[in-house]
Amino acid sequence: MKDQITSTEAIRGAVHSDLRHDSAIKHVTGRAEYCDDIAEPAGTLHAYLGTSDVTHARIRSLDLSAVRAAPGVIGVLTAADIPGANDISPTGRNDEPVFPTDLIEFHGQPLFAVVAESRDAARRAAELAQMEVEELPHALDPLQAQAAGYPHITDPLKLERGDVATGFAEAPHRITGRLNVGGQDHMYLEGQISFAIPGEDDDVVVHCSTQHPSEAQHMVAHVLGVPSNAVTVNVRRMGGGFGGKESQMNLFACVAALAAKKWNRPVKIRPDRDQDMTATGKRHDFVIDYDVAFDEAGRIQAVEGEFAARCGWSSDLSGPVTDRALFHADNAYFYPHVRLASRPMKTNTVSNTAFRGFGGPQGVVAAERMIEEIAFALGKDPLEVRKANFYGPEGRDLTPYHQQVTDNILERLVGELEKSADYQARRKAILEFNAQSRFLKRGIALTPVKFGISFTATHYNQAGSLIHVYSDGSIHLNHGGTEMGQGLNTKVAQVVADAFQVDITRIKITRTTTEKVPNTSATAASSGSDLNGMAALDAAEQIKTRLVEYAADKWGVDPAAVIFLPNAVKVGNEVMGFDALVKAAYMARVHLSAAGFYKTPDIHWDRAAGRGRPFYYYAYGASCSEVSVDTLTGEYRVERTDILHDVGRSLNPVLDKGQVEGAFIQGMGWLTTEELWWDKQGRLRTHAPSTYKIPLASDAPRIFNVGLAEWSVNPERTIKRSKAVGEPPFMLGISVLEALSMAVASVADYRECPRLDAPATPERVLMAVERLRGGK
Ligand code: MTE
Ligand code: MOS
Repeated sequence: MKDQITSTEAIRGAVHSDLRHDSAIKHVTGRAEYCDDIAEPAGTLHAYLGTSDVTHARIRSLDLSAVRAAPGVIGVLTAADIPGANDISPTGRNDEPVFPTDLIEFHGQPLFAVVAESRDAARRAAELAQMEVEELPHALDPLQAQAAGYPHITDPLKLERGDVATGFAEAPHRITGRLNVGGQDHMYLEGQISFAIPGEDDDVVVHCSTQHPSEAQHMVAHVLGVPSNAVTVNVRRMGGGFGGKESQMNLFACVAALAAKKWNRPVKIRPDRDQDMTATGKRHDFVIDYDVAFDEAGRIQAVEGEFAARCGWSSDLSGPVTDRALFHADNAYFYPHVRLASRPMKTNTVSNTAFRGFGGPQGVVAAERMIEEIAFALGKDPLEVRKANFYGPEGRDLTPYHQQVTDNILERLVGELEKSADYQARRKAILEFNAQSRFLKRGIALTPVKFGISFTATHYNQAGSLIHVYSDGSIHLNHGGTEMGQGLNTKVAQVVADAFQVDITRIKITRTTTEKVPNTSATAASSGSDLNGMAALDAAEQIKTRLVEYAADKWGVDPAAVIFLPNAVKVGNEVMGFDALVKAAYMARVHLSAAGFYKTPDIHWDRAAGRGRPFYYYAYGASCSEVSVDTLTGEYRVERTDILHDVGRSLNPVLDKGQVEGAFIQGMGWLTTEELWWDKQGRLRTHAPSTYKIPLASDAPRIFNVGLAEWSVNPERTIKRSKAVGEPPFMLGISVLEALSMAVASVADYRECPRLDAPATPERVLMAVERLRGGK
């Protein structure tokens, strides 16, 4: 690969080529620097959070004298120590105090921080608080919350199109049901961490593991009561974010900064895994009530759906997350008449947040459940029902939010996967196997994904970059996106290498910092390379334009005769090295630095009306999974998975495949083994890998064939016609749930939809088998 990079071809292929992640070797040799690896200046202090051991209560008194007196303790931070606003709500709703003053709203809620000479001392001291409280009744899940008359934590969304009443009245079949879809812990390898270093005046620098440095900056400024220009937030990389560091780092960034300014010493805060899991938000679990009407062919006529989510004690990002669930409740299917409503419920649990797919996957699972219901009711292969309901030409191309689907490639994509996975023959063989086999049962399912790309908050769809070309020809690249393992920095560097036609090794990828690119959006909604790739291209083009003007003028040729060749520039008939041109341009006082900018065109969204074009385009994919289930124990395994996924013209196929594989496995984990469990008192009892099971390497499909739809080109003018890849393939994991469902249904001769709730743990699979066998 190294040879290739320096060869002529490789530069031209800087985009659309299989470059490995720029930090791959550092990742595997342990030399990649994460926040906790930054050398600590002498005098660094360590903070730890003290948390509540009740679920919902009024605080009568909080006695921290024993905490203060503990060995190594420098002091404590409470709400009283906050000079600015005691609020870190990411949407400005003012409903998320850093530390509460009178009301405890969930078990494990941070109440204060201890600052000590060592992390161990701080952690031990945090246990010594004495509290008097008046306990209040609590509601833990959306149904309890509704029964208790709890409010929506944020405004619900309603999407409506067509005439639902007539749709239901005229259809020959109708099914109503309820689906429970569980939440998910992010389980990033690197947990939450922030490290603040005080400066002169109001200044503070915060190194923070965050997907959203600008937000961390604004929150720290807000909490300290200083302008944003006093606060710098840096992040070189995260050891995974998955949405869990889009807003949840605010608490840690603010605590570290508050303590650093209060004691004028560097302060680091890093919760242990148990506290990370109990004190920070997760994927929203949903209770979804659906009502679907359809005809003999399995074509959907009308859908009504209500999506109640466990949002937790504060709004956080629950508004946009529950909105996105509705935006994806159609998945790939046209609903002639539809009404969808979200119920973002306040609960006395940790505040749920962004997680890969951002509510979308919960919507997609509901769509696939309805397809299953129809298939079992009519005795059809679910794939046939899926195909019958795909978005189609005019008349069948409007989403529930009135965006037209113009780029649908699912028919081809699904058709190709159906063939390459040999779906029809294998399904037939499985039906025969199940008829013979008494206890071992098999299942197969092929499920599609359509995922909308863009932030639904339109103003988020902007990005900036900063490129310097130094006089020796080396290039410094900075952009507003953050690296969390997905390979964003590599992709953006590829774009810049392609623009200048230089070796990628010439480009220095630098940490994300609010000092270089301001007012950035979270690296989220899979938009990192779409937005930052374009912003970087803009900066590179500006510098190139200046170089071209300079060369044309200096050597008296037409600007069109200045051509960038691999590591060289042709000016008229002369070819000079890129370095030589840069050096000459510098001597002639050409500005060799540029800030780039990009905003996504053509998108708009009117939330009150439930209409618009919130998404610039859609990404598509499909997966086919086969499982085997031991119906005596409920245990199962994935025998084979085939995936065909659409990333447009891939910027980097090998990185994209990595994203597809990882997302599939993470999606499968969400729907199978990852179970969050709160006891009646409201304590999260699954707060470590010992009780919360993420997929292991041994849980990967025995046969795993992952392909990209190489013929796909983004019809929109995205960066090099690529498509976003971070989140859409997460929903490919749904084929595993659906395959399990088929295996379970076999015990009652496929007469009934097993209605498997997610996660379909072995226990749930066993219970479903028993229920169907008992004819209940
Ligand atoms: N891949 C890795 N390795 N680590 C991560 O934390 N986060 C996912 C996805 N892929 C994540 C990941 C999520 S939730 C999103 S939104 C996108 O990456 C963000 O990066 P992108 O916009 O550059 O794709
Ligand atoms: Mo991803 S959930 O948009 O960070």
